[in-house]
Amino acid sequence: MLRDQGRAPLFEALLTYAEKVKAPLHVPGHKLGRAAPEAWRDTLGPGALALDLTEAPGLDDLHAPDGVIAEAQALAADAFDAERSFFLVGGTTAGLQALILAACAPGDCLAVPRHAHRSILGAMILAGVKPSWVRMLFHEELDIATHLDPTSLESALPSAAAALLVHPTYYGVTGQLAADLQQIRRWGIPALVDEAHGTHFGFHPAMPPTALSLGADGVVQSTHKTGGSLTQSSMCHLGHGHALQEQRVREMLRLVQSTSPSYLLMASLDLARRDLALHGHTMWERALDLARVARQRLAALRGIRIHHADDPTKMLIDVTARGLTGFQAAEWLWSRGVAMESAGLGYVLAVLTPGDSLVTIDHLVEAVAALPDGPGAPPRPSEPPWPEVVLTPREAYLGPKTSLPLAAAVGRVAAELVAPYPPGIPVVAPGEKLTADVVAYLRQAAAAGYHLQGPADPQLHSIQVVRE
Ligand SMILES: Cc1ncc(COP(=O)(O)O)c(C=O)c1O
Repeated sequence: MLRDQGRAPLFEALLTYAEKVKAPLHVPGHKLGRAAPEAWRDTLGPGALALDLTEAPGLDDLHAPDGVIAEAQALAADAFDAERSFFLVGGTTAGLQALILAACAPGDCLAVPRHAHRSILGAMILAGVKPSWVRMLFHEELDIATHLDPTSLESALPSAAAALLVHPTYYGVTGQLAADLQQIRRWGIPALVDEAHGTHFGFHPAMPPTALSLGADGVVQSTHKTGGSLTQSSMCHLGHGHALQEQRVREMLRLVQSTSPSYLLMASLDLARRDLALHGHTMWERALDLARVARQRLAALRGIRIHHADDPTKMLIDVTARGLTGFQAAEWLWSRGVAMESAGLGYVLAVLTPGDSLVTIDHLVEAVAALPDGPGAPPRPSEPPWPEVVLTPREAYLGPKTSLPLAAAVGRVAAELVAPYPPGIPVVAPGEKLTADVVAYLRQAAAAGYHLQGPADPQLHSIQVVRE
């Protein structure tokens, strides 16, 4: 890192402004918190509200930065070893939209794994892009994806204008990113990476390598997930020598982001970057130590198994030998005040960060130890049927649609996404045929009590299809 990472230019400028301004005759209308709801002032404190500002003198403009935001982004690029970094106030969702809009023209194909997050499907709808779905290989015991199938990737690439990879998954599994990127590079197309769960990777050698270090062209990270910034703040990075048009990326960011970006979110990115750059190693060493302790103590409990993740701070706690589903276990743990990141059929997921402590681990271990025995967990579900794509997601999602009872929808084209969560892998995406197999699978998932992401009717008694 070459620049002075001890600085936080945007945060410092906000403090200076709040101190100097005598008459803030501009929005936000709460005027540095003075007219903010009292309960909010009491909770957040006057300090936080005084920094909830907008493009006032000396505070630069996210959409045309040449002052403190430009400096803060340059410091971020230096810390994350990117050619360029952009602050995002619409989460990683906005960054993925901008990268896909920048890399693909309407009608182009994007090579994308089926376990991609639903924000990527949203980006494809906005961009009018056709998915070239890539198959994944699954964990031998759990319903989570581990690697891309290289043969499937190879057949998706020739028609693709760009490829998008997920690194790591929600469960901290990285797959074989280096090999996947090499394969994509041979086709000379941009490689985009959804690294929503990997902000911290570059700051400790025990973590997997970052997508940027492996040569990705465009990467988006949810700094708010593990980097310490406020929820909804993320970063988009362009790799050194990237194959994207930077000007186009900037244009697309202007298109998808608010014209009133939150300075609290942006300043939180500036400060999170400073902490990671200065203290990231120590912070994540502590999180790794806690994860080691938690793993050992949990693995010693009767009927509990901990599955390996490439990111050791993600802990997949398998409860099937206790005769419980992960959903039951999570509910029971929450009744003891222990809140898990998510639950699947056979597991609960714990995410550890530098914000945890031995006290958190004690609560987790004690509650897991006391889990009651259940009647037996249901068998792992089979993989969803492979999709039959008829229309682009955009045509199906934005075109005329109608709602039909699920049973009557066989043979029609879906106009909405249905992804049982977790793991959130689509059973059907807009534009795909609702075959008898797909409908049977959806019925099973709804009956098993999965939370279904995407459909207008969350119980799935009905489903939206393309009007004929
Ligand atoms: C893998 C993955 N990608 C993208 C996103 C979207 O990120 P954000 O919530 O920052 O918009 C998420 C959010 O959970 C995610 O898990």
